[in-house]
Amino acid sequence: MKGRKLLMIPGPIEFEPKVLQALGTPTDSHVSPNFIETFGNSLELMREVWQSKTGQPFIMAGSGTLAMDMAVVNFIEPNDNVLVISTGYFGERFADICKRYGANVTILTTEVGNIVSLNTIEKELSTKNYKLLTITHVDTSTGVLVNPEPIAKLAKKYDTLSVLDGVCSVAGEEIKQDKWGIDVVFTASQKAIGVPPGLALLMVSEKAMGVFKNRKTPVQNYYADFTNWLPIMNAYENRNPSYFGTPPVNLITALEVSLQQITSEGMETRFLRHKKIATAFREAILTLGLKLLPIDKNISANTLTAVYYPENIERGTFLKHIGNNDIILAGGLLPSHKTKYFRVGHMGSVNNNDILATIAAIESSLINCNFPFEIGIGVKTALKILNE
Ligand SMILES: Cc1ncc(COP(=O)(O)O)c(C=O)c1O
Repeated sequence: MKGRKLLMIPGPIEFEPKVLQALGTPTDSHVSPNFIETFGNSLELMREVWQSKTGQPFIMAGSGTLAMDMAVVNFIEPNDNVLVISTGYFGERFADICKRYGANVTILTTEVGNIVSLNTIEKELSTKNYKLLTITHVDTSTGVLVNPEPIAKLAKKYDTLSVLDGVCSVAGEEIKQDKWGIDVVFTASQKAIGVPPGLALLMVSEKAMGVFKNRKTPVQNYYADFTNWLPIMNAYENRNPSYFGTPPVNLITALEVSLQQITSEGMETRFLRHKKIATAFREAILTLGLKLLPIDKNISANTLTAVYYPENIERGTFLKHIGNNDIILAGGLLPSHKTKYFRVGHMGSVNNNDILATIAAIESSLINCNFPFEIGIGVKTALKILNE
């Protein structure tokens, strides 16, 4: 007996046994040759995962919100203009962070489940000089997927830095940071990167590092300041000991293992696996007669799916029954819709068994709630897609 439930929430996810074993190894000194090698390797492996040969990686102790903080505070100075393109809860958080550091923030948003059009973004960029724009690749509150490539192109055209929140996408959704010209792409360890919570990971373009180096005022956050951390990242990459703040030795040891697993699977294979599992899950949900939050399949994430509860179903009973079937799903997050939907994470080490078991548990719960549907149709639909 496994002794635990299957965690199908959008992070933390199920972790690979070898990653957990690495986490549990005796803690090394942060300046021991072994750990210096592990840190250096991890920085190098990040470049492969982000597909950025020229980017500057940062590995930080902190959650994804620290990565958001670092991705803006190091560039903006008081009264700079920032454009936030929001598709949910985490876009709003970006706006809050930028305002806290004294930026003039404009938020572009649209109805829940939709994306902001490129026309709208370009129109806004042409009105004033924006220092930076933010994009949430996958907003975990809505399951909406934004294509960052054309937005990054627009940012370049208007000489604006592009910052991509990839917390729910890096190593799950396709990202080619250099090719797509995105200035900052960041994530947190607990999602598709596959390491327990506690690491903030950023990749910063040469152009963005230039903007940081030319700033006129000090960075308004001591811990998040690249000035403190750039020499540390450079030292570890050059395999030299260094110290500013004690690095989370065990988490970085686990990160190296996970990044090795990710790169040996291969980025293209990994993206396709996520796409296939997500498609199977979405199609199964639709054949069951349920509705998705994203208004179109083309803007539905491959790392998680947000699903409306069917009408007349008591959500507590629905999720509890799924829990009784040993699967944990997440409730809603977007304040305006919190009680209307649930979320299923399918990223990282997720496999066909996990998604089939989840669909079966959802079917079981629908039966328990007296929701009318053809029993087995969800599993059948998913199996067909998974076996193609
Ligand atoms: C898209 C997105 N951005 C930012 C965050 C914040 O990350 P953390 O909770 O690790 O601070 C999350 C967390 O789920 C997220 O999904």
